[in-house]
Amino acid sequence: MAVEAQIDRLLERMSLAEKVGQMCQFPISLPQLEDRIRRGMAGSVIYSGTPLPGTGPQDPVTASRLNRLQRIAIEESPSGIPLLIGRDVLHGYKTVFPIPLGMAASWSPEVVREAARVAAREASADGIRWTFAPMLDIARDPRWGRIAEGFGEDPYLCSALGVAAVQGFQGDNLRNPETVLACAKHYAGYGAAEGGRDYNTIEITTATMRNVYLPSFHAAVQAGAGSIMAAFPDLGGVPVTAHRELLTTILKEEWGFDGLVISDWAAIDELRYHGVAADRAEAARLAARAGVDMDMAADVYFDELVGQVESGALPETVIDEAVRRILRVKFRLGLFDQPYTDEGRAVVHLRDDHLQAARDAAAKSLVLLKNDGILPLEKSGLTIGVFGPLADARRTLFGSWVLDGVEDRVVSILDRIRETAADGAEILTAELWDDALKRAQRCDVVIAVMGEGISRSGEDNCTTTLDLPPGQQAFLDALHALRVPTVVVLLAGRSLALERVDQTASAILMAWHPGTEGAQAIADALFGDANPSGKLPVTFPRTVGQVPLYYNHRPTGRPLPDDRKHTRYVDQLDSPLYPFGYGLSYTTFEYRDLRITPDGPSVVTVSAEVTNTGARAGDEIVQLYIRDLVASISRPVKELKGFARVSLAPGESQTVTFRLAAEDLGFYDATGRWTFEPGTFAVWVGPDSARGLSGEFTIDSA
Ligand code: NOJ
Repeated sequence: MAVEAQIDRLLERMSLAEKVGQMCQFPISLPQLEDRIRRGMAGSVIYSGTPLPGTGPQDPVTASRLNRLQRIAIEESPSGIPLLIGRDVLHGYKTVFPIPLGMAASWSPEVVREAARVAAREASADGIRWTFAPMLDIARDPRWGRIAEGFGEDPYLCSALGVAAVQGFQGDNLRNPETVLACAKHYAGYGAAEGGRDYNTIEITTATMRNVYLPSFHAAVQAGAGSIMAAFPDLGGVPVTAHRELLTTILKEEWGFDGLVISDWAAIDELRYHGVAADRAEAARLAARAGVDMDMAADVYFDELVGQVESGALPETVIDEAVRRILRVKFRLGLFDQPYTDEGRAVVHLRDDHLQAARDAAAKSLVLLKNDGILPLEKSGLTIGVFGPLADARRTLFGSWVLDGVEDRVVSILDRIRETAADGAEILTAELWDDALKRAQRCDVVIAVMGEGISRSGEDNCTTTLDLPPGQQAFLDALHALRVPTVVVLLAGRSLALERVDQTASAILMAWHPGTEGAQAIADALFGDANPSGKLPVTFPRTVGQVPLYYNHRPTGRPLPDDRKHTRYVDQLDSPLYPFGYGLSYTTFEYRDLRITPDGPSVVTVSAEVTNTGARAGDEIVQLYIRDLVASISRPVKELKGFARVSLAPGESQTVTFRLAAEDLGFYDATGRWTFEPGTFAVWVGPDSARGLSGEFTIDSA
C-alpha cells in the first residue's frame, strides 16, 4: 500500500494523545522515557549527552540499548509505531573529520559527502538514524562561535557543500540501514545574530534573507533533506520557532518540503522568554500553528497540545498534518519494516578506509596563509622546536561539538612531527613559554602550535576579540625578536585577526580543528609529503573592528578609485588581511586566456587556462565570480558562481570551463520575488575573491 494511504490508516486509529506523542522528542536521560514510549507518547528520542573532557563519551550509544527502547515502542505501545532516534553527529562519529568550517576550506563536495557517508555508516551501526546536521547557516561574523559548525560566509559554496552533506548522510535510499536522516539547521538566519552573540536577536531584510541566508536551505530541501530544524533567535521580533511565514509559507508551501520540522532544544518553551507567549499553552499553540512538527526536549507539546485541541484553541488538522510528516519520514527510513539495528553487524567504527577519508579531508582543509619559503621543511638535519599550548593536544583536534570521537586514536601534532621527521632531525619541546624561548635559541625553526581550544569555539562560545588567546602573540613576538624562523600551525573554529602573526611568523598553516587524523595531515604538509590546497571559506579581517567583513558586500555610493587609498576607517584599512577564497600552495599557478562565449541567447560559457608554473604537483581551486553591474537593487561587488578543484603536475595546464545561465544570474528583489534582469555582467576567473582574469558579457533576454 502506498505510504500516504498507510499514514491515513494509522491516523484514523490513533488517539489524540498518541498523535501528540509522535510530535514529542525526549532526551535519552529522561527518567520516564520508557513509560512514555510504552504509552505511545513518544515519537522520537534524542541521544544527547555531553562527554567529559578526556574520558570519551560519558554515556556511549549502543545498538542493544536503542533496540530495547525500540522494542517497547513496537511491541508494547498501542499503535506499535517505531521511534526515530537522533543524535548530533556533525563531522564524524567515532572517526572525526575536520570541523565543517575546515571541510569547507577543501571546497570539495566529495570530501563533505564522504565525511557524511562515513559518519552515517558509523552512527547507524549503533542505532542512530537521524543526525542534526548539516548546519547551513551563513556566517559573516566570526565572533559567533558557531561559525565553526557551518560552511562559511558564501551562499553558493554553502549550498554546494550542504547538498553534498545531505547526499552523504541520506545516500540514495534512506531505507538502506547505513544511512541517517539529515536535518538542515538552523533555519534560518541564525548566523546573523547581532554582535556575533549566540541566540541573539536578528534583523534581516527580505532581499538579504532570500539572496544570502535561504539558498543553502533551499538547496538542501531540493536535495531531499528529510528534516529541518528551526533556529533559536527571533527575526525582526518573531522568534523563528513561531515564524509561520518561514516554516510554513516558504519552506512547506513554496518549496514543497514534505519532511518534518523540529524545534531546537527547548525552544518552544523559550517562546515565553522571548515575550511572545504568556504561558506554555500559548507557546505550544504558536509553534504548532507556525509549522513546528516536533518539540525537541521542551515537554511543551507533551503537556499542552491535547488540551489545546480539546478546548478548541487548536484544530486537530494541525496535529494531523504534523504527525503525517513525522510518519512519512519514518516510512522513508524503512523503520516500520526494519526498526531494529543488527547488533551482529561487522564493526565499522574507525575502519581503515574511514581513517583514510578523514586524513584526506584534513589534508584538503589545510590553508597555507603565509610562506616566505621556509615550508616545506627538510626531514633531516634541522633542530626543530615544537612549542605552543596545542602541540601535545589531542581532544582539541576534534573541535567543540563532538560526542563520540575516540580520543585514544588521536595522535598529537607533536608526536606526528616526531614520527614524520627523519632520525637526523632533533625535536625540542617545552611545557612553559620561558623554557620554550630558551630552547628556541638552539632551533633552526620553531613550529608554534597555537590558536583556540574548544572552550573558545562553538555554541555559546562567542568572543569580542579575534586575537590569539592570551600569551600566544607575546611568544611569537619574542621569537621574532630572537630572529628564530617560526611556522605557526593554527587551530581554530573561526577566522582570526592575524595581522601581527603575519608580520612576525615565516609561515602560517591554518588547520582549523582537523579531526582524528588531523595531526598526520599537518605533519605531511609541514614536511612536504602533501601540498596544501585549501582556500578560505571565510574572510580573515585585520581586526575585529572591521567585522562584519565579507567579500560579497554591496558597493556604496562612494567607492574610491584607488583601492589602496580605500580607507574608510581612520585607523585601519577596510580590506581584509586574507580575502575569501585565498590560500597558497608550495607551487604556483598562472591564469591565462579568459574566454567568454555565448551559448544560446541567455547562456555563456566562461573558461580560463590554469597552469602549474612551479616545481611541485598541486591542486588549485579555480573560482568564478560575477557582478551584476546595474540592477533594480544594488547587487554585490562579487558573487561566487562556480569553482573547480584541479590537480596539476609541474608545467601542466588545464582549461577550466564554467557555464552561466539566466538562473545563475538572477536574484530576489526587495519584495522577495525572483527576477532575472538582462544586462551586462562582470566576470572573474581566479585564485581567490580579490584576484583573477576579468571580462564582461551581456545577456539581452532571459
Ligand atoms: C542545540 C543546538 O542549537 C542544535 O544545533 C543541536 O542540534 C541541539 N542543541 C541538540 O543537541
